[in-house]
Amino acid sequence: MKVIICNDYDQISKEAYKVVSEVFKMEKPIVGFATGSSPIGLYKELISAYKSGELDFSSLTTFNLDEYVGLDKSHVQSYNYFMMSNLFDHVNVNRENVHIPSGTGDLDSFCRLYDHEIEKKGGIDLQILGIGRNGHIGFNEPGVPFESRTHIVNLDADTIEANSRFFDSIDDVPTKAVTMGIRTIMNAKSIVLIANGEQKAQAIYNTIYGPVTTECPSSILQLHPDLTLIVDKEAASLLPQQK
Ligand code: GLP
Repeated sequence: MKVIICNDYDQISKEAYKVVSEVFKMEKPIVGFATGSSPIGLYKELISAYKSGELDFSSLTTFNLDEYVGLDKSHVQSYNYFMMSNLFDHVNVNRENVHIPSGTGDLDSFCRLYDHEIEKKGGIDLQILGIGRNGHIGFNEPGVPFESRTHIVNLDADTIEANSRFFDSIDDVPTKAVTMGIRTIMNAKSIVLIANGEQKAQAIYNTIYGPVTTECPSSILQLHPDLTLIVDKEAASLLPQQK
């Protein structure tokens, strides 16, 4: 595991860009994308690299981590809408190669097929992750088995509360989500996790030093052979090297 501690959010985004742009050197890169506020700066870096001619997205295949159940892709808080407006609408990715879980329709068959689709394409080369305050990755909340594949989860009260800042009221936050499972995420060949702010400090400590337990889903990442954690000083504030 490699841990990069940055001075601020801008530096996090630039360090993450260095990791992600490396994978674009592959002939047909397959990247797993995340939503949430943490990767937005990275996505801005990716857009400006496309605009300056530094990156070409035409041979990229993407798989997103998760989506709220019940939100149509046109809903402004859907993760589909998030990905289009924060990245995919601004780069030359081929829409046929973009995969984002659907929050509506036949979710059971979707879940059954998503991991197969990823495997059929050859697996994810690099998975981008944020992290929840409770250590969730994707929407894999505490207690989700480490061997889980893409599935439907009930969101924790803490996650609903944390994400309510994006909705008019907490009652509008969906209570379920479709998410890649923990096994799906661990199958990625490499992973980069981005976290900023003091509210992520405990989750980051547990990710690196905690026992590997489903009570903190991100703790399984200790067992991943190619993990880079990019955090700011606040998110790193509980780490021994920062004390
Ligand atoms: C959501 C997403 C996660 C994300 C987390 C943290 O719950 N499902 O993928 O990592 O929020 O979000 P933020 O980056 O806004 O703190």
